[in-house]
Amino acid sequence: MIPTKSFIERRRHLASKMRHGVAIIPASPERVRSRDSHYPYRFDSYFYYLTGFSEPGALLVLVAGSTEADLEQILFCRDKDREREIWDGFRHGPDAAREVFGFDEAYSISQLDEILPKLLADQPAVYCSLGQDKDWDTRLIGWVDRVREQARSGAVTPAAIHDIRLLLDEMRLIKSEEELQVMRRAAEISTGAHCRAMQTARAGLHEYEVEAELLHEFRRHGAQAPAYNPIVAGGANACVLHYIENNSELNSGDLLLIDAGCELDGYAADITRTFPVNGKFSPVQKDIYQLVLAAQGAAISVVRPGTLWNAPHDAALQVLVQGFIDLGLCHGSVDGVIQSEDYKRFYMHRTGHWLGLDVHDVGGYKVDGHWRPLQTGMTLTVEPGFYLRPADNVPEHFWNIGVRIEDDVAVTDTGCDVLTAAAPKTVAQIEQLMQQ
Ligand code: GLY
Ligand code: MN
Ligand code: MN
Repeated sequence: MIPTKSFIERRRHLASKMRHGVAIIPASPERVRSRDSHYPYRFDSYFYYLTGFSEPGALLVLVAGSTEADLEQILFCRDKDREREIWDGFRHGPDAAREVFGFDEAYSISQLDEILPKLLADQPAVYCSLGQDKDWDTRLIGWVDRVREQARSGAVTPAAIHDIRLLLDEMRLIKSEEELQVMRRAAEISTGAHCRAMQTARAGLHEYEVEAELLHEFRRHGAQAPAYNPIVAGGANACVLHYIENNSELNSGDLLLIDAGCELDGYAADITRTFPVNGKFSPVQKDIYQLVLAAQGAAISVVRPGTLWNAPHDAALQVLVQGFIDLGLCHGSVDGVIQSEDYKRFYMHRTGHWLGLDVHDVGGYKVDGHWRPLQTGMTLTVEPGFYLRPADNVPEHFWNIGVRIEDDVAVTDTGCDVLTAAAPKTVAQIEQLMQQ
């Protein structure tokens, strides 16, 4: 668990980057699934990153003066409510929340419209994330208008609205040791789930039966949820990049592609493994698989501080495209095939993304128009793939083979740490585990 003092430190750090102004960061709303049933609540990643507070109906305000010492950290949250707590469970209420989560002040969320205009008066700037939620946008504009209405009494209206995500995304891009510890545990639980899937899968089962093993493994270790909808894709389904129906029967002789990771205390793991349903790769499957594995190895080998974001993708592409040419699927030189983008018939996504509180985590991939150099503490996925759909110019023995191999990687001072290395991925490791 990340301690309260770290959340306070993050708020101070954000305020120091804002200088003078008011930051407003709301919690996510609860969302209806069907009539009066809600989806399981998931906090907003920005709000949680700054508060550690996971109740809905809350809002964070930071009032930052012109010096670092001049900072008010204010939480608005739901009141204690004996009746509602009988139905829905514990809520902190402002007094306990202030103590537990380290705020200077805490108020009832019902006082927002009364207090916010006072906090905004005479402040030079508002920092918020306009466009994220239309209801909050409308309320914010209302509060600013309330200040403007007081102009004749001398109140000064904030003159600027800044996008707070520009500051927060940079902070979230570099993970602290505490965050990495949570991510390592999320990775550990998720690699265990992939091992269990390999040990369970066999012809005649349905994809959802294997999905159930993954979900059971996540939950029994305390992960709150899958970090995204698991993909359990046998045979041709592996060539559908976002396949989530998971309702087909598994056939001997097919590959099974599983892209699944848990979310633990807000942090995502994101792992893909591909293996034969019957435990033994056919010669063609083995060729395809080992090409993707080599591409992934090439990509991971360049992950270190200073490497540009695009370098792992370029490294993977060189290996894959040479393989496509060797297999007779593309023609000409590697550079020519990359230039013409002919390879996109078989590899149409990129080789990774930032990973953190969001599975596709925040943070720009370019800075001032150039690919961003990797830094210690950044976390990313490395996930090349190769997808062979039936097509006139693809020999039939390749049809419906889809392979992706995805690991989670943390950049270290000297290179990188593969957080998900415990999930088997060589042909020998996979076949051995499946035979046990
Ligand atoms: N599971 C989503 C992704 O691999 O990006
Ligand atoms: Mn991914
Ligand atoms: Mn994935």
